Amino acid sequence: MPNRPSLTTMGGMHPDYDHLQQAAKDHLCMHFTRHSTYENSDVPVIVRGEGAYIWDAQGKRYLDGLAGLFVSQLGHGRAELADAAAKQARELAFMPLWSYAHPTAIELAERVAHYAPGDLNRVFFTTGGGEAVESAWKLAKQFFKMTGKPTKHKVISRAIAYHGTPQGALSITGLPGMKAPFEPLVPSTFRVPNTNFYRSEETSYLGPHDEHAFGQWAANRIAEAIEFEGPETVAAVFLEPVQNSGGCFPPPPGYFQRVREICDEYDVLLVSDEVICAFGRLGHMFGAERYGYQPDIITCAKGLTSGYSPLGAMIASDRLMEPFLTGHESFAHGYTFGGHPVSTAVAMANLDIFENEKVNEHVRATEGAFRATLEKLNDLPIVGDVRGDGYFYGIELVKDKATKETFDEAESEKLLRGFLSKALFDEGLYCRADDRGDPVVQLAPPLICDQEHFDEIEQILRVVLDKAYSLL
Ligand SMILES: Cc1ncc(COP(=O)(O)O)c(C=O)c1O
Repeated sequence: MPNRPSLTTMGGMHPDYDHLQQAAKDHLCMHFTRHSTYENSDVPVIVRGEGAYIWDAQGKRYLDGLAGLFVSQLGHGRAELADAAAKQARELAFMPLWSYAHPTAIELAERVAHYAPGDLNRVFFTTGGGEAVESAWKLAKQFFKMTGKPTKHKVISRAIAYHGTPQGALSITGLPGMKAPFEPLVPSTFRVPNTNFYRSEETSYLGPHDEHAFGQWAANRIAEAIEFEGPETVAAVFLEPVQNSGGCFPPPPGYFQRVREICDEYDVLLVSDEVICAFGRLGHMFGAERYGYQPDIITCAKGLTSGYSPLGAMIASDRLMEPFLTGHESFAHGYTFGGHPVSTAVAMANLDIFENEKVNEHVRATEGAFRATLEKLNDLPIVGDVRGDGYFYGIELVKDKATKETFDEAESEKLLRGFLSKALFDEGLYCRADDRGDPVVQLAPPLICDQEHFDEIEQILRVVLDKAYSLL
């Protein structure tokens, strides 16, 4: 790869490297991680970041192809965001939003309500995405209890969709393997098909069809589920604008418009789970804006602060908040650190940069080039499908391009877990190989990336995917 800059341009070995390794192995409980992976190899320790790059404790550089975890919209090392955090911590480090308020939470609520579509004017802050999902379900249940429909409590969501780890959000999640160790979970959630058009013939039984027809079919499965469960029992439908888990499923044209009609018909709330899709990932503040639909609630987190401090939010419509605004009523729910002053101050600074540097406009102007660069990989025999929107893509890997045959469990184990993630990292690309649905490589780089970064991603993927195919 002649054009790729040196991987070791910054720093050297961390002075405390050996101790960090031992302490990580002895004491750190890592998230969603097989600890046995590190019995005979080092834990990758990332020590610093700048722009679209991160460096490990041995001084090696990587392109951050996943924005951390769909988080670092503005990239790393932005002094303005660090300064905003320090200034706020000095001025007022903590105050909860329990009957009291602080200025940056108020200002941020006003700003987010202003960006949010339609009458989504009320912002409930959390510390992350799972809590936002949890909050949305609780608001939906309490709202219907207060407005004369107390039996409406069930939730419908899509197969393979991830909505977080708290037990309510995990119940809404459509990944049986992730839920099994924690059953019984909160009851009353039900799955409908997702919008995986690449494999739609296998699920929709429609024969040859177009994307629009597939979208209508998939949306109508929601109506069917509501009818099946009883409309008087269903409170909400949780959908991501582009579903992440399974490998980036954008909505077929007309899908969300049909979902909206169904929700209106049955008085079921449409919750747009935008924990990944909001704040520029799709070139707009919210994914609902990109696809032209009006949710009743948006849940968001991650990019709201570009990761410089943790924060999530649930944004509810005027209709949903109305019963809570008079008399003795209150939304019986809260988090000590929800809307933490440092996080809300950082979010304000983050959104200032979004506006000043026209980040959404940049994504919209360059997303076509990102897509075109990734689509070059279609000439590899292992690449079945390249799909996504904005700066959010999944590359589905197949054993046989013509038949779309996928890998069995043993091949997935060998290829994805045994080879791919590590090989990509070794080549200097931090991203994820995921097989919660069919095997995909997930890409969601910082929104500041340009053609040079797209090329670097493509070049590394080309080398590693070629090698992966030869190992089959
Ligand atoms: C769509 C969606 N909802 C909820 C969550 C959970 O967010 P968190 O990990 O901040 O709790 C995620 C996390 O990736 C997500 O992608």
